[in-house]
Amino acid sequence: MQHDKVLILDFGSQYTQLIARRVRELNIYCEIHPYNKLPEDLASFKATILSGSPFSVRADNAPHPDLSELKTKKPLLAICYGAQYLAHFNGGEVAPSNTREYGRANLAYVEDDPFLEGIPNGSQVWMSHSDTIKHLPENAILLASTTDVTNAAYKIDGEKTYGIQFHPEVYHTVDGTLLLKNFLVDISGLNQDWTPHSFIEETVENLQNQLGNDKVVLGLSGGVDSSVAAMLLHKAIGQNLYCIFVNNGLLRKNEFESVLEQYKGMGLNVKGVDASTRFLKALEGESDPENKRKAIGRTFIEVFDDEAHLIEDVKWLAQGTIYPDVIESVSATGGPSATIKSHHNVGGLPDFMKLKVVEPLKLLFKDEVRRVGASMHMHTSILGRHPFPGPGLAIRILGDITAEKVRILQEVDSIFIEGLRKWDLYDKVWQAGAILLPVNSVGVMGDERTYEQCVALRAVESTDGMTADWVNLPYEFLQKISNDIINKVKGVNRVVYDISSKPPATIEWE
Ligand code: XMP
Repeated sequence: MQHDKVLILDFGSQYTQLIARRVRELNIYCEIHPYNKLPEDLASFKATILSGSPFSVRADNAPHPDLSELKTKKPLLAICYGAQYLAHFNGGEVAPSNTREYGRANLAYVEDDPFLEGIPNGSQVWMSHSDTIKHLPENAILLASTTDVTNAAYKIDGEKTYGIQFHPEVYHTVDGTLLLKNFLVDISGLNQDWTPHSFIEETVENLQNQLGNDKVVLGLSGGVDSSVAAMLLHKAIGQNLYCIFVNNGLLRKNEFESVLEQYKGMGLNVKGVDASTRFLKALEGESDPENKRKAIGRTFIEVFDDEAHLIEDVKWLAQGTIYPDVIESVSATGGPSATIKSHHNVGGLPDFMKLKVVEPLKLLFKDEVRRVGASMHMHTSILGRHPFPGPGLAIRILGDITAEKVRILQEVDSIFIEGLRKWDLYDKVWQAGAILLPVNSVGVMGDERTYEQCVALRAVESTDGMTADWVNLPYEFLQKISNDIINKVKGVNRVVYDISSKPPATIEWE
């Protein structure tokens, strides 16, 4: 089935992906493309959205693409920079505003239009711009203003072309989704048929056509993406999907056994490979964080390659790549930055990396991956799992790694994570874990003086890991967890809680 598509032309705004997610929430399919590289199948897009940008339209190096293939030919909605660009190049005037207009504002209508249908006068919108449209083009009709911004929303007379100075994609624009719906559904006539259910049906059919009777190998990590990718492939080709789940010895306590059982329960053809000793050996004496990562990456490739060779006549490597990994981004200098895919660089690679690549999730954002998983009835313990770094506990043990340190940290981490679950805090936290510090400190237990290790607990709120803040966990909870850790985990006599945000700190300590 062919879905109606929206083209989002990216001028480098920090909110571009958010526009795409809002459009997808309306069950409408969209793609992001850099402003200076229109897609080859341009004719197949039914509407266009122009994003915001960090540039000023008056700057020499600002994005000034030729819109003649888009404007008037299909409905167009221009947001923030896009709206200024549209005005500037149609005879309007854009100039610096006296103040940087940032934050809340309220719309006051000047003119009725289907674009504003159902949106109450005074509705809150979110502004973020330093230039402003001083004069609209002659053929423009002003639709709405705010106290500080006269030309907050306009349309071009006789066209399905709209410009808005505010950001409908951010949550603070209360009726932003309705505005997008008005534009896409009522004005542009797009169908809302891009649903998890339709995605699953079409993907399974496409995978069947693409893969036929071929065998596919996939590495499971226990995380959401690889698990959902596996379920889709399993639906399509059943036992011809060979999953490999490697225990690097740096997973959470009992994670390898319990996740493996869960995968088997889902009907997956999965092999658990316990390579803990091999990883520990590769890490011996290594305390530099990047070298630890490299040693783990290298060992994983070796183990996976050995396992892939055991599958006779395997043709494909499946990967859980998602849409944000493949979007071409607009760089700060205005040019599109090329995404270099490592699998194009085939010289000297292990054999499994020379296989043909299949990526069933590459059209989806993370929240869509979860929706697709839920639609396939996957368990919330997989779909709602906190992110966990590939190198696992190795980057939460500061300094060199030994089997004993891994054991201590697994015990501490397990008390913390199970505690979050029991106190109903797990789903309120984006990511949590414990860090084993290379610090011994003095303590006293009974009549004895101790000199033992210190652990830090970390729990953060975030949406994508790029920025994060520490979570204000209840004191009673921290008190109980600290007591449990010190009483139950031999070798630890001190617990601290990390209250740093990212930036300037990072989520992990290494
Ligand atoms: P930072 O520490 O950079 O972490 O604030 C941001 C997010 O990335 C995860 N992370 C990693 N994930 N391999 C991974 O697969 C790594 O080497 C790695 N380092 C950090 C981290 O857990 C957090 O979710």
